[in-house]
Amino acid sequence: MSVVVTVGCQWGDEGKGKIIDFLCREADVVIRHQGGNNAGHTILVEGQKYIFHIVPSGILKPDSMNIIGNGVVVDPFKLLEEMDHLTAQGIRITPERLKISGQAHVIMPYHRQLDGLEEERRGGKGIGTTRRGIGPAYMDKVARYGVRLYDLLHEDILRKRVEAILPLKNAIIQQVYHGQPLDPDELLASLNACGRRLAPFITDTTEVVEQVLAEGKKILCEGAQGTMLDIDFGTYPYLTSSNTTAGGVCTGSAIPPHKISTVLGIAKAYTTRVGEGPFPTELFGEEADRLRNAGPVGEYGATTGRPRRCGWLDIPQMRYACRVSGITHIALTRLDILSAVPEIHVATAYFDQAGQARPVLSADINVLGECRPVYETLPSWREDISTITRYEDLPRAAQAYVKAVEDWLKVPVAMISVGPQRHQTIVRQHLF
Ligand code: IMP
Repeated sequence: MSVVVTVGCQWGDEGKGKIIDFLCREADVVIRHQGGNNAGHTILVEGQKYIFHIVPSGILKPDSMNIIGNGVVVDPFKLLEEMDHLTAQGIRITPERLKISGQAHVIMPYHRQLDGLEEERRGGKGIGTTRRGIGPAYMDKVARYGVRLYDLLHEDILRKRVEAILPLKNAIIQQVYHGQPLDPDELLASLNACGRRLAPFITDTTEVVEQVLAEGKKILCEGAQGTMLDIDFGTYPYLTSSNTTAGGVCTGSAIPPHKISTVLGIAKAYTTRVGEGPFPTELFGEEADRLRNAGPVGEYGATTGRPRRCGWLDIPQMRYACRVSGITHIALTRLDILSAVPEIHVATAYFDQAGQARPVLSADINVLGECRPVYETLPSWREDISTITRYEDLPRAAQAYVKAVEDWLKVPVAMISVGPQRHQTIVRQHLF
């Protein structure tokens, strides 16, 4: 039995796509279990660039099975666009290779619209969402106003569902936001067309998961976003609407908790975040630009193109991530970027309001903005490490940095990424 769960340790964008793509080569089955097309994984393979928003990146491996689990929210229009785009890039997408849970909720066009209207209503004080309709879709799921992919397979049921829900949505769009209402017939026609195309892929993934577990397949769970964006454990309300931590795997894919063998926390060698909200180790001006623009791929969102906020590695935040997901191993990404800085700072504790040093981020994030990071300084290596493939060949200072991270977190660093390409990966421990 081998189920490897991947979790973003920070605020998303930890380079999960690259690590997941690397691990996919060993996995038989890859599962997405939460989030939607707010995620953006960029994967470079032999000079070809692939961007994934919702299709699991295991699809690049010809003989893998890929599952979009029940915990995901699926925009059927965007999913079909992505499938068409990948097909045009030469990727074979068949119902044997891609299975989509009928229990997954649909991001309806009014969810997208409401997400944008709400961000505009809040002006500069919004959450800074990706405007993909993620929050409104999860809201409706919990409020029991949702539409599920199974509903797209039954035109009569879908019509009844839309006729019951749309008048309320249109009233909110018009009366609260002064937006344009949606026409029920147009909406139904477009959803029915999506349903017809997606029908061969929509299935009972609980049964598929049970079967692949029984067959002893190697399963990789592809986490999206990061710990600090988790709806329960993150920097509420500046976060996404799903459980991005390890527990989300069980409810979002029907993998039983006792089947999980490894929880791989993926963390950048420094920290970034997009959107609003507290960020204790944030850098500004030239110092932030140095991290943002170093390396072949800069710190700009794959989904929205927004420049990411950049800062130093934050150990109290990472200790918290390890705590809430039970992280067993770390993959440290973008270590090559730290070649660009003269010296490295790492927050190893926070001074709280009373001036006391705290080793772990507090669950009361209302005090996070007032925490002052306690920094330790380590030397940088100031040389290109992007072609190194063995840990022993890293400069001493880079090894010392990795060792310090392990000591601070008390978790082994199993993988190190030194560039965006597959071969720019140092493996210290095999996870499958
Ligand atoms: P939403 O998920 O679109 O509702 O956005 C909520 C917050 O999560 C915003 O601050 C987004 O920038 C952030 N977010 C959502 N998805 C990602 C991601 O894949 N990487 C980084 N941040 C994300």
